[in-house]
Amino acid sequence: MIKDQSIKIFPTVETLAKTFAELLKQNVDKTDDNDFYSIALSGGSTPNKIFRYLSENFVDKINWKKIKIFFGDERCVPPDNEDSNYRMANESLLKNISIPKENIFRIKGENNPVKEAERYEEVLKSNLPSLNGIPQFDLILLGLGEDGHTASIFPNQVNLFYSARLCEVAVHPQTKQKRITLTGKIINNAKLVVFIVTGKNKANVLSKIMDVNKSKSVYPASFVNPKNGKLTWFLDLEASKMFDNKSNNDVIER
Ligand code: 6PG
Repeated sequence: MIKDQSIKIFPTVETLAKTFAELLKQNVDKTDDNDFYSIALSGGSTPNKIFRYLSENFVDKINWKKIKIFFGDERCVPPDNEDSNYRMANESLLKNISIPKENIFRIKGENNPVKEAERYEEVLKSNLPSLNGIPQFDLILLGLGEDGHTASIFPNQVNLFYSARLCEVAVHPQTKQKRITLTGKIINNAKLVVFIVTGKNKANVLSKIMDVNKSKSVYPASFVNPKNGKLTWFLDLEASKMFDNKSNNDVIER
C-alpha cells in the first residue's frame, strides 16, 4: 500500500511542466536561507521537456542558488556523450540557470563504474542530511520505462532496488550499457518522489503499476514507496488513459 500518493493528470505536457515548476518554486521558497533544497534529476527524454520549460519560464523565478543538483542515474559514458543524462540536463537547464558549479554533483560516467558507484555514495553521504542514517533528498525526479524500470533499475535486476548500498552498477538489458543508479534505499527515504510520465507508450505499463495487485515483483517503479515522504505522479492524459482509479480531483485543467 502506498502511504501518501497523489496523481495529477494534465491535458498537455506544457501544463504539466508549469505545475511542476510552480511546485519546485514553492518548495525552494520555503527553504531556509541558510539551508538548501536537494534534487536528484532523472534522465531520458521526458525530463528534457520539463527542463526546457524551466529554462524558458523560471530562470528568474526560482532562487537556483538554494538548490543542489544530483542525479538519480547516469549512463557510463563521458559527460559530452549524447547518451549522458548530465549532458541532457546541462544543455536543457543547468547552463541556463545561475546555480553555483559546486552545487552540481555529477555522476562521473567516464569513471570505472564500480569505483564511481562507491564515490557517488560518499558524495551523497557528505552532501545530504540524513534520516534514519540514510541520506535524504528533498526531491527525487523519476521517469518510467515501458518495461517498468525507473532510474536504472530494470525488471531483471530488481535486487538492485533492495541493495544495502545507496548506489549500484546496473546493466541495460538490451544494450548492455553500464549505468550507475540510486537504489531503493535512498529513493524510498526521500521527502518527495515525483514520477513524470507522458505519452501513450507508457499507458500500458502505468495501468499495471497503478493496479497494485498486478504490479508487485515485476516492475521496479512499483517498489517506489517513500517511507517518510510523499509520492506524486505527474501524468499527461495519454499516459493515464488505461488506468481507471482516477478520482475527479486528479485531473488538472489549465
Ligand atoms: C534514464 C532514466 C530512465 C528514464 C526512463 C524513461 O537514464 O534513461 O533515468 O529511468 O527515466 O527510461 O525515459 P523516457 O523519458 O526517455 O521515456
